[in-house]
Amino acid sequence: MEIIAISNQKGGVGKTTSVSAISEILSKSGKKVVMIDLDPQANLSKGLGIEKPEYTIQGVLFDEYGIEEAVEAINDNLLLIPCTKALANFEIEMLNEIGREYILKNKIKALEGQCDYVILDSPPSLGLLTINALSAAESVYVPIHAQKYSLDGLHEVLETIDKVKEFINPGLKFKGAYFNQYDQRKLLTRALTEEVKEMVGEEMLLNTFIRVNVALQEAPTLGKSILEYAPESNGAVDFKNLTDEIISR
Ligand SMILES: Nc1ncnc2c1ncn2[C@@H]1O[C@H](COP(=O)(O)OP(=O)(O)O)[C@@H](O)[C@H]1O
Ligand SMILES: [Mg+2]
Repeated sequence: MEIIAISNQKGGVGKTTSVSAISEILSKSGKKVVMIDLDPQANLSKGLGIEKPEYTIQGVLFDEYGIEEAVEAINDNLLLIPCTKALANFEIEMLNEIGREYILKNKIKALEGQCDYVILDSPPSLGLLTINALSAAESVYVPIHAQKYSLDGLHEVLETIDKVKEFINPGLKFKGAYFNQYDQRKLLTRALTEEVKEMVGEEMLLNTFIRVNVALQEAPTLGKSILEYAPESNGAVDFKNLTDEIISR
């Protein structure tokens, strides 16, 4: 079982879109995948048609029931542990809890042997939920929105990953950053590519660029995954390539 976090404290960079697409593609290749929605905005859950779940990740984190009980089947190999906005209470209520950085990590242990991948969606902040994700994960990938100001955020998330490695989870591996909503017609994006390579190291910028693709936007508004909604779209093709890269890292 491999635990992967998709993180960036900037909102709107494509974390949730990535978690949904990558997880579905892995599941279609025969892997059993559990997605966990760790953003109180619950975009991942809602985008897959789970609006008012009875069992949620916050229920698990607050020790109300076991993690297996909160697993919801999206299809045969694809599972989701959803959340609702009440997950936001976690940050406040656990503020003084000893070991608060390890709560998710300890809960996920019960999934060992039951799936091939656990993929964690992160909220747009570097608060306790993101720290819990990075503490539980073995690898982390960082999507970057291909526009100028997204690079300030990149610096911060890299710093947080380093700190988590130093103090909380020495086994965490930064496995790469990748561009999302990439428009190769724009000159700016080429300069950005160079800047990112300088920041993360040449080999840490993944080769796949996720293009701007409207199907990626439409699918979740219909409660559908990208392969279900538009299997031949650029979005589906790009995420297949990205997933291949992730598998081979
Ligand atoms: N490659 C893309 N092409 C077009 N729209 C995209 C793409 N990636 C993400 N989006 C859209 O951009 C918005 C933000 O993406 P999202 O995955 O929710 O970001 P985050 O989880 O980082 O906040 C959503 O409306 C999503 O549908
Ligand atoms: Mg999101």
